[in-house]
Order: sequence, then C-alpha cells, then structure tokens
Amino acid sequence: MLPNYKPLLDAMEKYRKAKVYPLHTPGHKGGRGADADLSALLGAKALAVDVSLMSELDDIHHPTTYIKEAQNLAADLYGADRSFFAPNGTTGAIHAMVLGALNPGDKILIPRNAHRSVVGAVILAGLKPVYLLPAYDEDWSLSLQVTAKQMAEVMDREPDIKGVLITSPNYYGMAADVKAIAKVVHGHGAVLLVDEAHGPHLGFSTMLPPSALQSGADAAAQSTHKILGALTQCSMLHIKGSGINGDHMAAAMSLVTTTSPNYLLLGSLDGARSQMAAKGKELVEQAVKAAEKLRRTLESVQGIKVLGKEIIGKGGVADLDVTKVTANVQGLGITGIRAGELLRKAGIAVELVDPANVLFLVTYADDNREFPEICQRIAAVLNQGRKTEKASLTIPRLPDIPEQKLIPREAFFAQGETIAFAQSIGRISKEQISFYPPGIPVLVPGEIITKEIIAYCRSMLALGLPISGPVSENLATIEVIKL
Ligand SMILES: Cc1ncc(COP(=O)(O)O)c(C=O)c1O
Repeated sequence: MLPNYKPLLDAMEKYRKAKVYPLHTPGHKGGRGADADLSALLGAKALAVDVSLMSELDDIHHPTTYIKEAQNLAADLYGADRSFFAPNGTTGAIHAMVLGALNPGDKILIPRNAHRSVVGAVILAGLKPVYLLPAYDEDWSLSLQVTAKQMAEVMDREPDIKGVLITSPNYYGMAADVKAIAKVVHGHGAVLLVDEAHGPHLGFSTMLPPSALQSGADAAAQSTHKILGALTQCSMLHIKGSGINGDHMAAAMSLVTTTSPNYLLLGSLDGARSQMAAKGKELVEQAVKAAEKLRRTLESVQGIKVLGKEIIGKGGVADLDVTKVTANVQGLGITGIRAGELLRKAGIAVELVDPANVLFLVTYADDNREFPEICQRIAAVLNQGRKTEKASLTIPRLPDIPEQKLIPREAFFAQGETIAFAQSIGRISKEQISFYPPGIPVLVPGEIITKEIIAYCRSMLALGLPISGPVSENLATIEVIKL
C-alpha cells in the first residue's frame, strides 16, 4: 500500500468532488448558509466536506469502511492491536480507556501527576483511586516521575489494585521507565494504562524515548493534535495484548464519542497518520534538530538553564523527549510567568509557564526557515528582560496528598453547598483543584481540605498561575459536601 494512502481523506475529497446536493446535516449545507466570516476563515473546500454522513463516509460507532481502514492503518503504524480515533481529545480517550479496562469499584493506582481527565475517568467509572506522589526536583522546581519500585511497594501492599494509570512522558518530556513499570503491573495481574498525551511522536526514532505500547503498556491515549499534524482535539487510543477486550473498549469509546463527529477532524487524524507512515523517523528527527537549535541558543544566554538529559536517572525519569525545551529563567531574576509575558509581547507564544520555567514545544513543523530568527528573538527578549537585582522567588510546595473520605464518584454526586474557601478547613471537597503547572491535583472530589491546601492555593494564585477546571473566581468559594 502507498504510504500516502489516506482512506478517509480520500473518501471525503471524492464526496466533495461529486457535488452532491446535501439534504442532510449540517444545517449550513456545504457552506451555502455559513456565516461569511466563518466561510472566509475555513474556505469553501473545507465547508463542503463538513458533512455528517454515516452511510457514505462510514460510522465511527460501527466502522466498516473508510474509518475502519484509517483506524487499522493507525494500529499498524503504532504497533497496536486496535486503534480508535478520538475526536474528543485525549480527555475522551482517557475516559474510554478507563471505562473499557476496569469495572466500577475497582482500585486504580494513579501517580498524582495526573491530568484532570484522569480524575474525570475515575468519577465516570466509579473507581477507588490509590495515589502515589512523583518525586520533586528542587533545582528545577518540577515534579519528576515514578519508579517501578514505588509501584511495586504500593501493589504489594494493596494486591487488589486492578489497574495502573501513569502519565508518561509528562508535560516537560520526562518519561518513566514504562517497561519496568509494565513488568511490575503485569506481575500483579493488573493492566497498565498510559496517558501518553505528550507522546504521539514517540517510538519513531531512537533519538526519543520508546512509546508506551513498545514498552509493554496495555493501552495508551495520545494527543495526536498536540505534537503531530492532526487538528486540535484529535487524539487516538491504542490497545495491545490480552489484558483488554477490544470489543468492550470499542463500546467504551462509542459511549464517550459524539454521534456527529466532524469529518474534518477525523480526516486530520488520517492525514497525520499518513505523514508519520510516510516519514515518521525523518519528521521526528527534524523536530529534534529544531529543538537542538533552540536549546543551544537559550544556553548561550547567561542565567538560563535548559533541562537536558542530565535529568535522566533522577526521581524515576528514565528518558527525556528533547523536543520539549524547558528553560529555567530564575537566574535572570524573573519568573517563568514574567518571561512568558515578555515573549508574548514580542510575538512569541509559549506552551506553558510556571514560576521557574518556560516550556517551548517544538515539533517537525519548526524545522523551517523562520525558526533560527525566532530562536534569536527568544534569546534577545529573555536577555533584555533580566533583572539586575536577584528576585526572591519562593515556589510554593505542594501539600501532602489529602485524606480521601469519599471516592471521587460519591463526592461528585453527593449533595453540596458553597462556602467561603477560607472557611473550608476540615470539609470534604466536591471540586477538583489543579494548577497547571504542576498539573498535580491539589484536591480531588472526596478529599479533606486542610489549611496547607488553602495556603498553597493562595500562593499559586498570587503568582498568577491559572487553575484548571471550573472553580470560583480567585477561589473565593468552594463547593463542599453538605453536612
Ligand atoms: C497529561 C495530559 N493528559 C491529558 C490531556 C488531555 O488532552 P486533550 O487536550 O487532548 O483532551 C492533557 C492536556 O493538556 C495533558 O497534558
């Protein structure tokens, strides 16, 4: 088969060319009724294939033709038994991964550096979470990874754990030793699920860490849209091995997927898959090359430290995705947040800032003619932004994992009341609070609020870090379980 064969995109183009009059959804009818600004933005070609045609372009809930073929090609590419397109992002893929792999009441081990979608999955599936805190690195003010030894200790203590869900690589590209963890997890008869949102490009070149599936995971959810060429919100779920029933996982995916998926989004997954099938190694290595350029330029600025492979071996970090470029700007006397603001004013938007660091996300698309000038501009802006007097930067330390009084699902559905956050010590939270970064939930529904938690949240808010998820403005109030 030709590497640039794209069954779904090809079928969409064929439909567009046939110029069929659409007496079907969507209401804009191939762009005829679309808002003029939207038309100008998307163009007639894109609107003509914004169709929702189950029979002719296949049905994601029961794929038999183009979607089936496109998903099979994705499975071949990623070495999976089955792959599923997830037009509701890795959030949807994680919800399905958990719903399809575990049963209500099961215990799941989760390193606490989990994205909020993992807590969502635990609520949906009615699981009992057991947490593990990843190591923390004082020099970088970053949380690291978890080790197989830590996993084994918890699993020996709690042999009824049925599943483990790790995040690898983390946002900063730090990968866990998934192979060793898989051994421990399987040795205890459990399944290993990996939030690989930041790793759809792994496994294509030895310059990057191996993928979760290559390392023995039973399932991996990947944000194809974050690093590869799919449109935003397009992800994939892959499963491999006998630990998971493929048909049951398909049912779980169907449960959390719209019946009207946007074909432009689905087609973009087919396109991204095809790019990687045709020249995955080359593209990944282009990303590494571009990232290397940025690393070298940043390292030339006195006061900036760039996270490199020295981190391997510390706190469970087994490998580093070097396309994630983390620059610690504390030596410039400014916070990562300030650095992000300065760069934005200079026309550069970064992936993430935290009190100490700026994270630049580099992909194959950055191996372009513009990029050397961009690297120079970043270095110049940061150099000019330095403060002569050293800023005293106190980075709040995450409080201990709170006591879990109720499982998240019970807390989510329990009757609640809204009270002042300052008055909530000792109460059971109905809400989830996480600051991104570090992306570690401070509170999960069902956990007891402490004064350390309130103080931490206040300090993080004062630093200007955004809270992920629906919480009250400035955390003035919080919803707790009604007494
Ligand atoms: C570690 C991690 N997991 C899952 C997600 C959710 O991914 P998506 O935005 O594709 O739903 C994110 C998003 O930032 C993430 O960082």
